[in-house]
Amino acid sequence: MRKDTGQVFRIEDYRPSDYLIPRTSLAFALSPEATVVTAVLDIERRQGIAPGTPLVLDGDELTLVSVAIDGKPLADDAFSSDPQHLTIANPPHDEAFQLTIVTRIDPSRNGTLMGLFRTNGVYCTQCEPEGFRRITYFTDRPDMLSVYTVRIEAERAQAPLLLSNGNLVEQGDLAGGRHFVVWHDPFPKPSYLFALVAGDLAGLHDEFTTASGRKVALGIYVEHGKQDRAAYAMDALKRSMSWDEEVFGLEYDLDVFNIVAVSDFNMGAMENKGLNIFNDKYVLADEATATDADFANIEAIIAHEYFHNWTGNRITCRDWFQLCLKEGLTVFRDHEFSADQRSRAVKRIAEVRTLRAHQFPEDQGPLAHPVRPRRYREINNFYTATVYEKGSEVVRMIRTILGPDDFRKGMKLYIERHDGDAATIEDFLAAFEDASDHDLSQFALWYHQAGTPNLTISTAHDAEHQEFRIEIEQSVPPTPSESRKRLMHIPLAFGLVGEDGSDITPTSVEGATVENGVIHVRKRRQIVRFQGVRERPVVSLNRGFSAPITLSVEQRADDLLFLARHDSDLVSRWQSLYTLFTDALIHGFRSVRGQKAPEFPTGLIAAIGDIASDESLEPAFRALALTLPGEADVARDIGTNIDPDAIRVSRDALASAIAKANGERFQALYDGFDGGGTFSPDADSAGKRALRNVLLDYLAVGAEDPSLAARQFDQATNMTDKAAAMTVLAHRFPGHARTTDALAAFETQYGHDPLVMDKWYQTQATIPGADAVDRVKALMTHQGFSLSNPNRVRALIGTFSTLNQTGFHRADGAGYTFFAETVLEIEKRNPQLAARLATAMRSWRSLEPTRQAAAREALLTIAAPDDLSSDLRDIIERTLA
Ligand code: TRP
Ligand code: ZN
Repeated sequence: MRKDTGQVFRIEDYRPSDYLIPRTSLAFALSPEATVVTAVLDIERRQGIAPGTPLVLDGDELTLVSVAIDGKPLADDAFSSDPQHLTIANPPHDEAFQLTIVTRIDPSRNGTLMGLFRTNGVYCTQCEPEGFRRITYFTDRPDMLSVYTVRIEAERAQAPLLLSNGNLVEQGDLAGGRHFVVWHDPFPKPSYLFALVAGDLAGLHDEFTTASGRKVALGIYVEHGKQDRAAYAMDALKRSMSWDEEVFGLEYDLDVFNIVAVSDFNMGAMENKGLNIFNDKYVLADEATATDADFANIEAIIAHEYFHNWTGNRITCRDWFQLCLKEGLTVFRDHEFSADQRSRAVKRIAEVRTLRAHQFPEDQGPLAHPVRPRRYREINNFYTATVYEKGSEVVRMIRTILGPDDFRKGMKLYIERHDGDAATIEDFLAAFEDASDHDLSQFALWYHQAGTPNLTISTAHDAEHQEFRIEIEQSVPPTPSESRKRLMHIPLAFGLVGEDGSDITPTSVEGATVENGVIHVRKRRQIVRFQGVRERPVVSLNRGFSAPITLSVEQRADDLLFLARHDSDLVSRWQSLYTLFTDALIHGFRSVRGQKAPEFPTGLIAAIGDIASDESLEPAFRALALTLPGEADVARDIGTNIDPDAIRVSRDALASAIAKANGERFQALYDGFDGGGTFSPDADSAGKRALRNVLLDYLAVGAEDPSLAARQFDQATNMTDKAAAMTVLAHRFPGHARTTDALAAFETQYGHDPLVMDKWYQTQATIPGADAVDRVKALMTHQGFSLSNPNRVRALIGTFSTLNQTGFHRADGAGYTFFAETVLEIEKRNPQLAARLATAMRSWRSLEPTRQAAAREALLTIAAPDDLSSDLRDIIERTLA
């Protein structure tokens, strides 16, 4: 494990490496405990660098066997090595030489899941961001592009399948039951895109012909017996390949594209050139084992990794500060793909919810950082919602500002200019500026300045002068190490909605640039005046969520209700309801804190019933509209002095008021959708299931007994309906005999299938209330649970700490104490996983004082050991700062 050294990396310290490695040849002699790696590196001294300049390569936990230059072994005093470096103090003065390094590694005892490791008997690598240095000594940075040739040798029985990047060029048998292959990847790539997989896996095969006629052999490799569950992923892959040709004009460039699914993986998936490696959760799906959410995630992640082939691989990052160059852009591309494959509005609403749930709290807490950071201690901790999701929002705003045509031109120019490069955000922005006549210098602050901007907005209508005024004031809250903020360029999409629900077109506008329904906010304070507005319009703001900001608007409840029913923009209709819900829940929260029973506006409650049964709206939209803000969302909007128990009381009271007022309507609707019939994972069918399952939850809130949910659980013919019923039973009727039966039945049926069991852990980890801590502790001893599998850990510990507000934030601090011990235990094997879990504590300062003190104690417990990994040390110190 890499221990913390306190070293901080700074963007301004970037300089090109002294030496280049144009060709890399690797030979792996695979063996579970002692794999030998022979790296032959063609090294060239960069122009202008003095002959004899020391060559320093990166390493991590490597055992060095030998070093040779141009075939001659180096004397012991000609190099020095420690676990982090290999230094050749006085390399040959020739412009080019060949360095041969032999290292030995132990994949079986590599719990970090970085470098070469074993997962269920399969050899697998993960090199992004700095895992390649755990395989051999190398200049392990993304601007070191090299052409790789990889020879893999292994026991045939143990590993009949041997994969690496690029094309297969040679294979054969060896003595002693061993065999070998050679792969060659013609595209120069950074070391983080290197991959190797070796093992006994089943393949699902298909073919894709690109627009220019190249035949690509497609393969998805999974555990034996699970090939059928890879069919949806294969379909998503082919749709992604076509879509990227149609929408971005980008074609695949190798003869082979392989995907491998493994069960131990730190994140979702990895875009290694020609050999994507996936967490099996994001490959395997069929109706009996996967929910609609799983299908949607698979589609999105398959697309995401495939799209990286251009945005990430052909054009990579100069350094890790530029991570958003590939991630933000690729998330934007996968969002657009899913929007085209499904319902655009529904997809956008889901994005807004995710951004608010994950990125806003990051931006508003101690871990806030710019989309393109300037400092880091541990780069692993910067694969964040800010880099990914806000990074995608920034690209979306560029498109909003430029318009679709200039945006397309900018993308084309970016790719033409930088294909084969390791590029920067400045390069990216320059392409859009040069392809259009837009000045993006103020806009660029979105990359450089952390924090969620806020717009305070008020409006006034002057009937006499037929003028409507929007007064806008912008502010960006201070974030760690950035107390003073500069003014941003915020594209605010809006509409002036008239009495009949259609938009009013004013005769003229002054006070701001207004184009295509977007106000370009650039100053601290702006008054936008619209002329020729006879009647008072209702203003619809941030339509389509055009900017990732918060709004402070004094908007009348009846105006919001009007927008919820009539706005032409569906995102805004959803947002209006969401705002009304939030206001109601905060009001309810204050009542509860003041020992009063919460009361809720009847207009809102009636509107919910109407929207639920409005046939002109797609079911998926109605499901989203009916979903109350989560307890954590409400907490964030309250901001300080959080008492999660009171939030829960308020939220349950609102749900039950809605259920009571609309019970009959909900029941009729629920009965109208039947859960049976042939299953299809398409968006329409999924939307119907989503609505039915939201209704089931409301019906359970209003019910005396769990029979409806129990019946759905027993009769469900797909995992979406089954898991939803199990959750309703567990959360609304905890401890009830029908609930206990359902949980036991689920375990009996799926106990052999870890991915499905994750739903069982998750459901129980999120049962609200104080006894959650003991429940989670008990589940940790379940025979299927393991602290070394990231999916299991996230299903149980991750969901408990992020989604179970009342359980985790128990007033006596027992949730935190348990969490601190568990994080430290996990850190011993997998520091990356531990660090990511620990971010669940980031909002601790907004808790009420008792909980805050308990949370601080737990954070200090985590911080106490003096040999913490750099991953965990970095998160904990920033959280406590
Ligand atoms: N580049 C990957 C993606 O976004 C994510 C990634 C980064 C990753 N580091 C990782 C995946 C470590 C697994 C393990 O597509
Ligand atoms: Zn990515």
